[in-house]
Amino acid sequence: MKALEYTDYGKAPVVAERPVPEAKTGGVLVKIAGAALNPLDTKIRAGYMTDFFPVAFPYVPGTDISGTIEAIGDGVSGWKPGDEIVARLDPSQGGAFAQYAVVSADQLVRAPTSMPLAESAGLVTVGGTAWQILFEEFAVASGQRVLVHGAAGPVGAFAAQLAAQAGAEVFATASAADADYVRGLGAATVIDYRCARFEDHLFDMDLVIDTVGGDVEERSLKVLKQGGTLIATPMPPNEERARQAGVEAKFVFHASDAAKLGHVAERADHGIKVRVDRIIGLEEGADAFARQAGGEAKGKIIFEPQR
Ligand SMILES: NC(=O)c1ccc[n+]([C@@H]2O[C@H](COP(=O)([O-])OP(=O)(O)OC[C@H]3O[C@@H](n4cnc5c(N)ncnc54)[C@H](OP(=O)(O)O)[C@@H]3O)[C@@H](O)[C@H]2O)c1
Repeated sequence: MKALEYTDYGKAPVVAERPVPEAKTGGVLVKIAGAALNPLDTKIRAGYMTDFFPVAFPYVPGTDISGTIEAIGDGVSGWKPGDEIVARLDPSQGGAFAQYAVVSADQLVRAPTSMPLAESAGLVTVGGTAWQILFEEFAVASGQRVLVHGAAGPVGAFAAQLAAQAGAEVFATASAADADYVRGLGAATVIDYRCARFEDHLFDMDLVIDTVGGDVEERSLKVLKQGGTLIATPMPPNEERARQAGVEAKFVFHASDAAKLGHVAERADHGIKVRVDRIIGLEEGADAFARQAGGEAKGKIIFEPQR
């Protein structure tokens, strides 16, 4: 089979021939229809994640897949060849940017039916992270005021849609070019982060979701109500500084979990959408990693490995 791989941190990913893996006990062989690129994949390649996700070389990157079950290993029940699934692979193992992957049956989730199968790969990590923030780290409720920084990005967009569906009043920061898109996700107010300082306009937030980091974190403490919560995705926030300001700040560390991914797939079938930047073949891997790392992608970059 074809797979994208690299042989050391920092090296460009190239297409290589590899054996098709075998479905062993408790696993299934998946023919991959779509595999979504995440910022995590570029951080692993850069060597920034060795403390959390050490990898062995040659490494086939990628965690987020959608596809069709091709073969079933011993001891697997409830699944059959032809079933369409989404799943998240362990980042240390990788393996998504390939034509086939073996997935543990307990990580399989039925793919949503409301979007093309390849595109549904784009909701796996971003949807799981947004779900974890809103319903596990926090308990979002109708009428709460929720600010989403980076709402035009994949994690922010999913979070904005989930929060709006839960009945929260959603505020967002995004660039002016993305304002209409973000309003379409359910944000009542969109602030252009390039021209305005959000802290001059917003106040009394129950929850701030920070997918941006940097000085956005410190400035966000001012717009929370006393006792409010900031949840950050790029870096752990300064919890002590938050306590001094009378609020709570925490980091979300996305954990793969089929039950959570099941909720995400179900939400996708109730109108939550994934924005696609481009759908490409594996041979465009090096350009795709550069585009993602350079912050140029508008939505998810999705590989179709069977091309
Ligand atoms: N902790 C975890 O478990 C976890 C899980 C998933 C993701 N993450 C991290 O979360 C971050 C976001 O992920 P993503 O996939 O959504 O990223 P992304 O594709 O990089 O999107 C980021 C978005 O933020 C916008 N932006 C940049 N600077 C901004 C600012 N100052 N104010 C408001 N918006 C701004 C960008 O808009 P422009 O296009 O206008 O620049 C873009 O729309 C990444 O750092 C990722 O590694 C962490």
